[in-house]
Amino acid sequence: MSRTVRLGPPADPALLDPMERAGLDELRSWQLERLQATVRRVWDNVPYYREKFEAHGVHPEDLRTLDDLRKFPFTTKQDLRATYPFGLFAVPREQVVRVHASSGTTGKPTVVGYTKNDIETWAEVVARSIRASGGRPGMIVHVAYGYGLFTGGLGAHYGAERLGCTVIPVSGGMTERQVLLIEDLKPDIIMVTPSYMLAILDEFHRQGKDPRICSLQIGIFGAEPWTDAMRGEIEESFDMHAVDIYGLSEVIGPGVANECVETKDGLHVWEDHFYPEIIDPTTGEVLPEGSFGELVFTSLTKEAMPVIRYRTRDLTRLLPGTARPTMRRIQKITGRSDDMLIIRGVNVFPSQIEEQILATDGLAPHYELKVTREGRLDQLTVRVEAAPKAAAHEARLILAERLAHHIKSVIGVSCTVEVVDPGSIERSVGKAKRIVDLRPKD
Ligand code: DLL
Repeated sequence: MSRTVRLGPPADPALLDPMERAGLDELRSWQLERLQATVRRVWDNVPYYREKFEAHGVHPEDLRTLDDLRKFPFTTKQDLRATYPFGLFAVPREQVVRVHASSGTTGKPTVVGYTKNDIETWAEVVARSIRASGGRPGMIVHVAYGYGLFTGGLGAHYGAERLGCTVIPVSGGMTERQVLLIEDLKPDIIMVTPSYMLAILDEFHRQGKDPRICSLQIGIFGAEPWTDAMRGEIEESFDMHAVDIYGLSEVIGPGVANECVETKDGLHVWEDHFYPEIIDPTTGEVLPEGSFGELVFTSLTKEAMPVIRYRTRDLTRLLPGTARPTMRRIQKITGRSDDMLIIRGVNVFPSQIEEQILATDGLAPHYELKVTREGRLDQLTVRVEAAPKAAAHEARLILAERLAHHIKSVIGVSCTVEVVDPGSIERSVGKAKRIVDLRPKD
């Protein structure tokens, strides 16, 4: 099903931050200056970084051009674990006014810290992201990202306040009440994971209410991969704009990159604060612009916990700027290298399956991928819900066959499809868990 992309009006250039409007030379020289200062800062203040640089044979003086960054070693989640909890802080702990942590699937969380200035910087980039999404001062923002150690809730909250909006700090969960608050407080904007937005959509329908007539005009969705097909579904169902926001705790939280509502063509990286590279995930080599690979970030303005060449594990490509000509874009993120399933030699991302599900009438966008091993072979089972009106048993068998056929012909992998009752796939109030891996750990 092809839908025409709905685009919103651009922001008045007078509203943009000075660095969003700066010329390329100005941006590049700011980046170099900030990069040199950041590398020097971690060398002087974080013994762990200094030892890594020394072991790698590099010194802050070696950074003379932006290209020299590639001489420096990467930082990974393992480095955060090795220094848990505060070992990467570049300021005395007393200057850290906030910590957040990301849960991680195993073991201890990774802890990140912010100075007062870092909180300001973060509010600024989230405010910029909301404005790029079409938000304006005076609007009402319903924040349904989780509040707490997760960066989503508080990150969105401070950004919306900074822009001059009225914030409703709902957090995730209690879906019935989410609908009630949307109806009564009439927010213009919602900030939430795309999968939880679908749960809110279901709740509207369950209560017999038409989501298209609610007050929401803009949804700012992120924290997990979602496809353009999902964008179409949400925009149609709510009669609103759905815009993509990206970020990660280690770099700052939400607001590292954001789509502009006037183009919806990938996410502009706020390059005055975060310097992006794309590397080959296997060799670590920096790839030419436009190549597909792993996204790596170096923070340019952070004080408490600067990161040098942090490997995100997210896979995408860098593209030239459009709505913000000097800031490069990342293509919508299709998945993480650690979410990629290899089923009998074929690389499969949940987002590819999602596209096929959304292209199949009669299926709902609630799914999970179950991976099992029979003998030596991995088996993929796609469990997906029937749309509420496609419930007849024979109809489900036909739908299952149709989806399995599409997946085989487009993605190249054979799988079993189970079309299950509406509501039977577990709903998450934050990030959806798409993969259930039942293979023996070897
Ligand atoms: O998820 C920060 C965030 C909160 C971003 C709210 C956007 C909105 P973490 O919990 O540290 O931080 O998880 C970061 O989530 O490396 C990506 O794999 C994934 N991710 C975040 N945004 C997107 C997105 C937050 N727009 C990890 N598209 C990242 C795809 C995303 N994946």
